[in-house]
Amino acid sequence: MPDPLRLGLAGLGTVGIGVVKIVQRHADLIAARGGRPITITAVSARDRTKNRDADLSGYAWESDPVALARRPDVDVFVELMGGEAGGAKASVEAAIAAGKDVVTANKALLAHHGQALAEAAEAAGAAIRFEAAVAGGIPVIKALTEGLAGNEITRVMGVMNGTCNYILTRMESAGLSYDQVFEEARQLGYLEADPTLDVGGIDAGHKLSLLASIAFGTRVSFDKVELEGIERVSIDDIRLAADMGLRIKLLGVAQMTGRGLEQRMSPCLVPVDSPLGQLPGGTNMVVIEGDSVGQVVLRGAGAGQGPTASAVMADVIDLARGTRLSTFGRPAASLVAPVPAKATAPAAHYLRMTLQDKPGALAKIATALGEAGVSINRMRQYGHPDATTAPVLIVTHKTTRDAIDVALKAFAGTGVLASEPVALRIEPV
Ligand code: NAP
Ligand code: HSE
Repeated sequence: MPDPLRLGLAGLGTVGIGVVKIVQRHADLIAARGGRPITITAVSARDRTKNRDADLSGYAWESDPVALARRPDVDVFVELMGGEAGGAKASVEAAIAAGKDVVTANKALLAHHGQALAEAAEAAGAAIRFEAAVAGGIPVIKALTEGLAGNEITRVMGVMNGTCNYILTRMESAGLSYDQVFEEARQLGYLEADPTLDVGGIDAGHKLSLLASIAFGTRVSFDKVELEGIERVSIDDIRLAADMGLRIKLLGVAQMTGRGLEQRMSPCLVPVDSPLGQLPGGTNMVVIEGDSVGQVVLRGAGAGQGPTASAVMADVIDLARGTRLSTFGRPAASLVAPVPAKATAPAAHYLRMTLQDKPGALAKIATALGEAGVSINRMRQYGHPDATTAPVLIVTHKTTRDAIDVALKAFAGTGVLASEPVALRIEPV
C-alpha cells in the first residue's frame, strides 16, 4: 500500500467540514482514484469548542494555522479560512516556504497575491491548486488549464456569484425589492461576512481575474477589472427588462483585444431565453470560447458545502496522483503584465431615470444623448408615482460605454434629473 497523502486542514466552516465529510465518506473511492489513501492529520479553526457536525476526534488540533502549515506530518496544506490577508496569507506562505503543496478555495487571496504566491511556489517546488475558488463545484480551472489547453482562448464570460444571481432571480420571481431580498439572503446565510464582496461585484471580479490569467497568460490583475455591483438594480429595472424579453444578470466578461485585456463585471441585460437568462438562483455559468473548440458552456452549483468541497477534493486527488501544474497553467515568470483596455465593443444600452415632470425635461435628455453620439431606439415614459416626477426608460441603438458615460455626465448638468440614472448594457450573448 503506498504512503497516504496527509492533509492539514485550516478552516472548519462550510467548506472545511464538507472536505472532512468527503474524506471520511469516500475513503476507498478517493484512495482508488488518487492511487494512495488520503488522510487528514491535523485541523485548525478559531474556536475549538464549536460543534461542527463532523467527527474530528482523530485529528490533531492546531490553534495557529501557520503552525499547521509547517507540521512535518502534513504533505498538503488545505486553506479554507478565507480572506485576502491575515491567517490565510501567512499560513499559505508558510506552507510554500516549507515546500508543501497548497489547495485553497480563497479567490480573494489569489486575486490580490496570486502572482507572488505562484512565483514563491515554483521557487520552492510546490504547487498551488484552486479549483474551488472559481464557480464552486464547476471544474472550470481544470477545463481551462487542461481540457482546453490546445486552444487560443478568445473570451471567457459568465455568472460567477451565486448570491447575486439568487437576489436578482428572487426579486423577479417574488416581485420583491432589492432591500427585501438582500435581507432574505442575509438570513439564509448566503452573503459573505462583508456583503459588499458579493453585491459590489468584488467576489465575482476576483474570480474573473483568475480565469483571465489562465486564459490569456497574463498576471492576475484584479485591480484592472471594471467593476459595478447590483446594489442599484431595482424591481422596476427587473420588471421593465422582463417587458422587453430581457433579464438582468451580474455578468463577467474577459477578452484579449488588439488594444489589451478587457475585464468587466457588471449587471447586464441578456435575453430571457438565452442559457444565461435561464440561470436560476445560486447557479453559476461559465462560457469559454476557444479558436478550435468553439464555445464550451459549464453550469452548476457556484457555492455550498458539497459543491465547493467536491472541487477541493478534485485538487487533492490530482496531487495524490502526482499531477503537478503551474498555478496559472504556465510558469509564473512567463505571465505578462496585461495592458488594461476599456471595453469598447458597442452594444445597445438600457437607461432608466426619473425626471422632473416639466416642459422640456425630456428634450434636454434627448439632446444630451444626441450630443454624445448616442441614438435612441425606444423611449417610454411610464406610470407617474407623483405629480412632480416622471419615470423614463430609454433603449439606445448600439453605442459604447464611453459615449453613455458622456451622456450621463451631461444629464447631471441638465437640472431635470429627479434620481440618478441607471445604465445597463444589453449584452449580445
Ligand atoms: P466559513 O464557513 O466562514 O469558515 C471559515 C473557517 O475558517 C471557520 O472554521 C473559522 O474558524 C476558520 N478561521 C477563520 N480565520 C481563522 C484563523 N485566523 N485561524 C484559524 N481558523 C480560522 O467559510 P467558508 O464558507 O467555509 O469559506 C472558506 C473559503 O472558501 C473562503 O475563502 C471562501 O471564499 C471560499 N469559498 C466558499 C464557498 C462557499 O460556498 N461557502 C464557495 C467557494 C469558495 P471558526 O469556525 O472557529 O470561526
Ligand atoms: N459568495 C460567493 C457566491 C460564494 O455567492 O458565489 C462562492 O464563491
